Amino acid sequence: MSNRTFTMIKPDATSKGYTGAILDQIIKSGFSIKALKWTKLTPSQAGEFYAVHSERAFYGELVEYMCSGPIIAAILEKENAVSDFRKLIGATNPANAEEGTIRKKFATSIAENAVHGSDSDENATIEGDFFFSKLERF
Ligand code: CMP
Repeated sequence: MSNRTFTMIKPDATSKGYTGAILDQIIKSGFSIKALKWTKLTPSQAGEFYAVHSERAFYGELVEYMCSGPIIAAILEKENAVSDFRKLIGATNPANAEEGTIRKKFATSIAENAVHGSDSDENATIEGDFFFSKLERF
């Protein structure tokens, strides 16, 4: 089992000024930051990142939304990182997320759900590699 996961703080959360509060909750929950980037995706980059969802009805909306403003991308480290981070962020739809989770506190809807968290060790590696070179992580 890997001890790393990948996250993005999405455009809805960065535009509402939640970046600091979300990073603070992540760090206080025991994750350490191994790479961090403030960037804005192009449609082509967002489309590639979410290519696994390309057949879904919401794909176009998802790509457009992910390019609508800046994001934070980060690689996080903690024992059992993928599963612990998914617990910390809560259900994809904030309406179903548990109290205290990041999505319950900061997300608006299933589309604008504040944060992304990798769903497996394999995808954590792929997603981290998408954003960060070897020089940008430690
Ligand atoms: P994320 O964890 O980043 O992975 C895929 C994203 O697709 C998900 O968060 C949501 O932002 C988005 N998504 C999933 N289901 C829907 C939906 N039914 N309508 C719109 N967006 C969705």
